[in-house]
Amino acid sequence: MSMSSPDFTYQTLKLDVDDKGVATLTINRPDKLNALNSEVLNELETAFTEIKQKDEIRAVVVTGAGEKAFVAGADIKELSDLNELRGRAASERGQEIFDLIESTNKPVIAAVNGFALGGGCELALACHIRLGSENAVFGLPEVSLGLIPGYGGSQRLTRLIGRGHALSMILTGRQVKADEAMNLGLITRKTEQGKVVEEAVEFCKSILKNGPLAVQAAIEAVGAAEKYPADEGYNKEAELFGKLCASEDAKEGTAAFLEKRKPNFTGR
Ligand code: COA
Repeated sequence: MSMSSPDFTYQTLKLDVDDKGVATLTINRPDKLNALNSEVLNELETAFTEIKQKDEIRAVVVTGAGEKAFVAGADIKELSDLNELRGRAASERGQEIFDLIESTNKPVIAAVNGFALGGGCELALACHIRLGSENAVFGLPEVSLGLIPGYGGSQRLTRLIGRGHALSMILTGRQVKADEAMNLGLITRKTEQGKVVEEAVEFCKSILKNGPLAVQAAIEAVGAAEKYPADEGYNKEAELFGKLCASEDAKEGTAAFLEKRKPNFTGR
């Protein structure tokens, strides 16, 4: 059920918002396995700008159309035609858009429903959390094209699973299936085929029961662990903790616990 219609018409994306404020953003180029050409990238930027601005959107599930692929990579046709200058610019452009996704102040969950290769794997890595269906396949095969990951993948994968495992994936370009992805911490849950979006939406709803300001601050605090050296990260945590203590939601949440009732959060 759609609660609100998007402000923009997308050619390569679908954006649906349910009555609980969970948006499902679908990359919709199934005949090209949802490969990220510049049109998709531009629309992702517009969509995440819209998602950030709209208060009625409270969490986002990102997935790919069809049963085969989440996203099978950056569009190899476009990559085949770059020189040094335009290659660097393309990498910086992708990094900028994926940073925008990562810095979203609402939970962003990747529902990986098949191939997440190259730029698709990097897109999943830019999401806050990843769920994968039985047929999920992760890989950074850029070296097989004579390239390296260029949309933040060399950095995010290394931070997420550590240098050894990241290099094992990036230097070989090998494909990592769902069970291994679970073991590596690339995904936090493996779901039945065809159920990954549904489970990601349920997961979002379990987050949305909590204080909205606290959820937002938690995303920022955990994000700080990647962005800043430890002392600045602790500083950010204390600053956010202090601000939350002054919120009505924290008064309500602690009072509700002590009064043995459910909290009624208002986001103030
Ligand atoms: N860029 C552009 N087009 C792509 C693409 C990509 N990254 N991945 C798939 N496609 C296109 C194919 O060219 C094909 O188009 P066509 O029907 O016009 O020929 C269509 O999507 C279907 O893909 P196909 O290769 O026929 O499907 P498959 O089931 O045989 O193989 C994959 C699936 C994912 C293994 C294979 O498509 C693949 O290796 N893709 C590239 C993965 C990659 O290297 N990504 C990193 C890029 S940085």
